[in-house]
Amino acid sequence: MHAAVTEEYKRVVWKEVPEPGYKSNQVLVKVGAASICGSDEHIFKGDFHPRTSTPLIQGHEFMGSVAEVGSEVKGFKPGERVVVDPIIWCGECPACKMGHYPACTKLRLVGVDLDGGFGEYVAVDDSMLFKIGDNVANQHAALVEVYGIGFHACKRAELKAGDTAVVWGTGKVGHCVYQAARTITDNTIFLVDVLPNRLKIAEAHYENVITIDANKEDPVEVIKNHTGGAGVDVAFEVVGHAHDVPGRVHPVRGCIQSIHGAGVVCVLGLADDPAPLVMKELIWREAKIIASRVSHGEMKDAIEHLEKGNLKPEAVISHQIHPREAQKAYEWLQNQPDQYLKVIMNF
Ligand SMILES: NC(=O)c1ccc[n+]([C@@H]2O[C@H](COP(=O)([O-])OP(=O)(O)OC[C@H]3O[C@@H](n4cnc5c(N)ncnc54)[C@H](O)[C@@H]3O)[C@@H](O)[C@H]2O)c1
Ligand SMILES: [Zn+2]
Ligand SMILES: [Zn+2]
Repeated sequence: MHAAVTEEYKRVVWKEVPEPGYKSNQVLVKVGAASICGSDEHIFKGDFHPRTSTPLIQGHEFMGSVAEVGSEVKGFKPGERVVVDPIIWCGECPACKMGHYPACTKLRLVGVDLDGGFGEYVAVDDSMLFKIGDNVANQHAALVEVYGIGFHACKRAELKAGDTAVVWGTGKVGHCVYQAARTITDNTIFLVDVLPNRLKIAEAHYENVITIDANKEDPVEVIKNHTGGAGVDVAFEVVGHAHDVPGRVHPVRGCIQSIHGAGVVCVLGLADDPAPLVMKELIWREAKIIASRVSHGEMKDAIEHLEKGNLKPEAVISHQIHPREAQKAYEWLQNQPDQYLKVIMNF
């Protein structure tokens, strides 16, 4: 088979590699489409070293069809279209024993800690597969994993019908958080970013949104002005490594300042630097700040909503390529983030 192999950091080569073997409880998946995640960009650059090592076939957001099944596999047969939940938890750490798998201390991901979906075939346990309807195109099905992150965040934040919200950071994950939130609430959702094109995507595709360019306006002020001074019910922080914007608070603190009393801040952005928190701002609101990591079964919700046409995958896909162009795609994403959002590899 062929795969886009990260031979060494910052160098991906489309080359022939051995097809993976599979165990009796595993399914050999023929990859149909895969999506490049922000984490893939980090792995490509070597930021995840030493957790990752090269050579590696990256790719944890992907779909395909069943090619072959192990002798014990009952639920799948060749030809069925599937998406892969890339998460492997240990089952033994305190979080796993509580059934809180996203917090597993030994969490591993297909495509990060072991070879993944940027190759023509991948072997995974049958428990990691979900079937997906024929009415969902390959390139849309490849987004199920990242949509799952959005649905998980909404669940963690306990977002309900009628809630107002802000999604701070409208990148690859932020758009998916927005779209998941939109399946729950019809009320106003504010979207904050510093890259105008990412906000333009929202304006072109979404309803009842107010976009805020943090370089031009103070997001907290805009949100307060539109909510009678109160603030929103839920603020999602999906920035991570924030660009410093003169005169503006850090996104995490901005989220806290944007919620009304008893509101919720849900943090997803993975930054290495501490975020400035003024506890008084949280305590006065008796607010909840809650973290959300990956997903826990919500890929099912994402599939259901994609099948029903409730999501807008076309809004987040900016480019489609063949996986032999993976190197070029990483360079685009790094050098012109404003022009690219989700890049899909069609096999
Ligand atoms: N918790 C999870 O499960 C989970 C899963 C995947 C990714 N992540 C993390 O979520 C974050 C976002 O990931 P992504 O792939 O969408 O990245 P991304 O780079 O596509 O999106 C981040 C967005 O934040 C914007 N931004 C930067 N500084 C800003 C500021 N000061 N104010 C407003 N907006 C600002 C950027 O312009 C960009 O559009 C990353 O930190 C990533 O590691 C978390
Ligand atoms: Zn991802
Ligand atoms: Zn565990």
